[in-house]
Amino acid sequence: MTQLLGAPLLLLPLIGLGAIGLLGWQRWAKQQRFKSLRSQPSPPQHWLLGNIPQLLGAVKNRQLFQILFDWSKEFGPKYVYWVGYPVLVLSQPKLIDSTIVQGTRDGSLVRTGQSQRAWNDLMGPIMIGQDGPEWQWRRKAWNPEFSSSGVSHYFALVDQACHRTVTQLQATLPGEPVPMDPPFVELTMRVIAALVLGIPIDPSQPSPEGPPLEIEPTYDAMAVLTYRFLRMAVGEKAWRKYLPTQASKDYWAARHYLEDGLRSRLDLALQLRDGDPAALEKASPLFQQSMLVKIAAKEPRYTRATLLPEIVELLIGGTDTTAHTLSLAVGELALNPSVFQQAQATVDRVFDDQDAITLASLKQLSYLQGVVKETLRLYSVASGTTSLQATRDIVVDGVEVPAGARLFWSMLGAGRDPETYPQSEKFWPERWLTEDRQTPAPLMIDFGSGPHRCLGEHLAMLESTLMLAYLLRHFDWELVNGRSSVENLKQNLLIYPVDRMPVYLQCRSR
Ligand code: HEM
Repeated sequence: MTQLLGAPLLLLPLIGLGAIGLLGWQRWAKQQRFKSLRSQPSPPQHWLLGNIPQLLGAVKNRQLFQILFDWSKEFGPKYVYWVGYPVLVLSQPKLIDSTIVQGTRDGSLVRTGQSQRAWNDLMGPIMIGQDGPEWQWRRKAWNPEFSSSGVSHYFALVDQACHRTVTQLQATLPGEPVPMDPPFVELTMRVIAALVLGIPIDPSQPSPEGPPLEIEPTYDAMAVLTYRFLRMAVGEKAWRKYLPTQASKDYWAARHYLEDGLRSRLDLALQLRDGDPAALEKASPLFQQSMLVKIAAKEPRYTRATLLPEIVELLIGGTDTTAHTLSLAVGELALNPSVFQQAQATVDRVFDDQDAITLASLKQLSYLQGVVKETLRLYSVASGTTSLQATRDIVVDGVEVPAGARLFWSMLGAGRDPETYPQSEKFWPERWLTEDRQTPAPLMIDFGSGPHRCLGEHLAMLESTLMLAYLLRHFDWELVNGRSSVENLKQNLLIYPVDRMPVYLQCRSR
């Protein structure tokens, strides 16, 4: 009997030795495979965990963008960090752009399966989580709606929303600090909901097609989903949402809240597509002109199941991105009095000419567009949401990148690249103005590069330019917390000012 028991016991040390040997061999094989990247500059590493501890700490502090930026300052525009595999981090705009464009075109770079799964598990498959034909038909359907001319059809709605924000701000108490981020979140969410779903900007207007837009609960639900995206992107498994945890409960509650809010409008759009006369009677003109109705009519592959996640994607994509950019632009304007004065004078000229801003007069606001671009250059709010993986051995700017290695970007580093942006620390909107100059505008990569470049770029530019114009026309302002408002930044999915950009507003007397 003891002999029988003894035999497996004797085997244990051998199994242990075998496991250690296997792990050692795997580690050695990995080191051989990624040898070429060992010679690149790297932040100091833990002997076993590489740079995982520093990165986890940064994610926990919500400052991933900051550590990538700090490392780019210390180790240069191309460095490698190690998290079990190497990640080559680039921070030169031209190199980032050409690498993404070329690599995604020839298939040598793909989005990582992990981040795609995380995107597609928000609510279901969405554009940003798809590639190939599945991405293509979706993107083709939405592109015309969000093109420059497509968005211009909705100018009146954007204009109405900006006016509404000004009226709200005029109602705040004189001398009271006003955090600017929340009204901008409301603005951007109302705009995207009006364009996409036909929900009136003015919440007191009837919207017979479905429930009203409730800003706070919708925002909270979106925050739960995006936080879960982040957890999945760094390794949490999709099946964990079925465990009886608080995080899972929050996830399902958020999902159901959004589904319940969207269902009736989605169904009505599909009934309109089917030519249901009862649906036509129920649908307001605003709803009939919404992107949802147009898209449903145009693309038969859109059903309730395929449309629902996509609408949530647009709500998420269209809200915090533009809102935080506006907040940071308000901050930079306050910190740069000469830029403020020039921006205000530009706006006043347009108003003095025609008492309103129109689609045509928008062209005269290119200085304000420069303010928005300058803000994006410095703060790149949607900073590097997507990393790429090499599918085969490639060479990036002289660096051999073996198959399986990843590429990522320090967008804050890129925005301050002195070769692309001379005097890169200066907030200088003129660098984007090309009318009086022979030189082309500098490269702008903050809306992304390659096929997944931002769908909502034109909407974001229109919305933020118009909103800044109205703010400058109606108010002067000072920052309550001074420079720290633009320095104290954190990152959920997006970069945001921690204090929500409080200002002292002063109504202008003209
Ligand atoms: C200042 C505002 C904005 C910034 C900085 C921004 C930034 C970006 C970036 C960097 C990407 C590429 C992500 C990647 O490659 O993985 C992207 C994609 C996207 N953005 Fe935006 N965005 C903004 C506003 C908007 C708005 C207003 C919408 C509303 C429609 C929107 C919808 C989208 C969508 C749907 C995608 C995915 C496109 C695709 O996968 O084909 N964004 N955005």
